[in-house]
Order: sequence, then C-alpha cells, then structure tokens
Amino acid sequence: MSAFQLPVMPRRTSVITVATATAAASAWWYSDRAPYPYSRRRLLDLQLPFLSNSDLDQVLRARPGERVLEIGPGTGLQTLHVAPQLGPEGRLDILDVQQEMLDHVMSQAARPEAAQIVPHRADARALPFDTDTFDAVYLVTALGEIPQPRQVLAEAARVIKPSGRLIVGEFFDRHWIPFGRLHRMADGEGLHVIERRGPSLAYFARLRPCWDRSSAC
Ligand SMILES: C[S@@+](CC[C@H](N)C(=O)[O-])C[C@H]1O[C@@H](n2cnc3c(N)ncnc32)[C@H](O)[C@@H]1O
Repeated sequence: MSAFQLPVMPRRTSVITVATATAAASAWWYSDRAPYPYSRRRLLDLQLPFLSNSDLDQVLRARPGERVLEIGPGTGLQTLHVAPQLGPEGRLDILDVQQEMLDHVMSQAARPEAAQIVPHRADARALPFDTDTFDAVYLVTALGEIPQPRQVLAEAARVIKPSGRLIVGEFFDRHWIPFGRLHRMADGEGLHVIERRGPSLAYFARLRPCWDRSSAC
C-alpha cells in the first residue's frame, strides 16, 4: 500500500461499522431530550409553515389586560409578537430551563413591552405558579422537546383559569407530537381540544380545561 492509499476495510467489518453507527445515531435521534441548544438559536428566528405568528394570533386571540404564560420561548420569536397585544395592563410570563434563552429574549425586548415580560427560569414539569393564574398558556415547538409532556399538560391545566385556554404548536421534527397523541394525552389530563389549525405535521391546537362547567367536555 502506498502512503497515499486509504486502508481497505474487510467488507463484513465495514457493514458492521455502518450498522452500528446508524443504530447509535437513531437511538440518539429518538431518545435525546436535551433542551434546544442556544448555539443553534438562529434557526429559531425562522417562522415555520402553519406556525407563523399570524397563525398563532388566530388561535391564541390575546386580549389587552390578560395574563399569559409562554413555555419555552427560545429566542422570543412569539414573545415579542404577543407581549404588545396584552397592553400596559397585561403581563406575559415566559418560562424556560435555559437562562441564556431568557436573557436573549429580554435583551431583544423594546422598552414598552419589556415591562410586561417577566422571565422565570424553571422546568415546565413543575410550574412555579398558583392554581388558576393565567388566562392563557402557550407553547410553540416546545412540548415535544420536554421529557414527560403529559406532566407539562397537567401543570398547564392546573395554572390556567377555568375559563382559560392552552395553545400547543407542534412541528414535524424529531420531537414532534402528532395531533392524535396530543389529543389522547390532553384528555387524560383534563384538557379538551376545541380547535385545530393546520395539518398534523404542523399544527396549532387550542384546548380548554374540562372543569369549565359552562359546557361538557
Ligand atoms: C425548539 S425551542 C422553541 C422556541 C420557540 N418557542 C420557537 O418556536 O422559536 C424549545 C424551547 O423549550 C425550552 N425547554 C426545553 N425543555 C424545557 C423544560 N423542561 N422546561 C422549560 N422549557 C424547556 C428550550 O430551552 C427552548 O427554549
């Protein structure tokens, strides 16, 4: 073999190597539950099809004076859009496990709406809020990324007022929760899906707590 030739692997060894690498990559792809890395934050500034801010407006229908919670704001694509809609009397709490994400959002917020945005570093599976606090809670491409999404739904159901709503946006990536699965998980946690926008691959769902006595779940 000359100094410039690559070593030739026996055929059986190369098949085993490729299969092992593929299995390891697949295992990582489906099981990795680390939060979205801040180093890849630029991708979060892109609006996804069916999950744009105008799609969110159609389903969230935020009103001035409301208290709203956003879980997993990332770099604030939705935060900076929703906060001004709540007006000076309203408040948008944002909650993320990564302090870098919260700092990023707050550094982007312009003066008037920055006063209404209140950051919290916490895990969405144990929300640091009292029962019946929020008029609305929303998560965009965050629920599937969090381990134990059912626990997140249970916590969201707890902190939403009986007349409130939960908005979930999911996109077809490796953490995607198909609409049918969301529906089943929500039913088990006392939340009822009342609206869906977009196909199952990229959708917004609007849910309400089942204990709202004004209509049957
Ligand atoms: C894919 S990003 C979505 C960001 C933004 N909503 C968007 O659509 O651009 C998911 C966000 O969820 C946050 N996150 C992941 N696990 C979390 C947890 N257990 N509790 C709270 N936030 C979490 C990540 O830090 C990240 O900011």
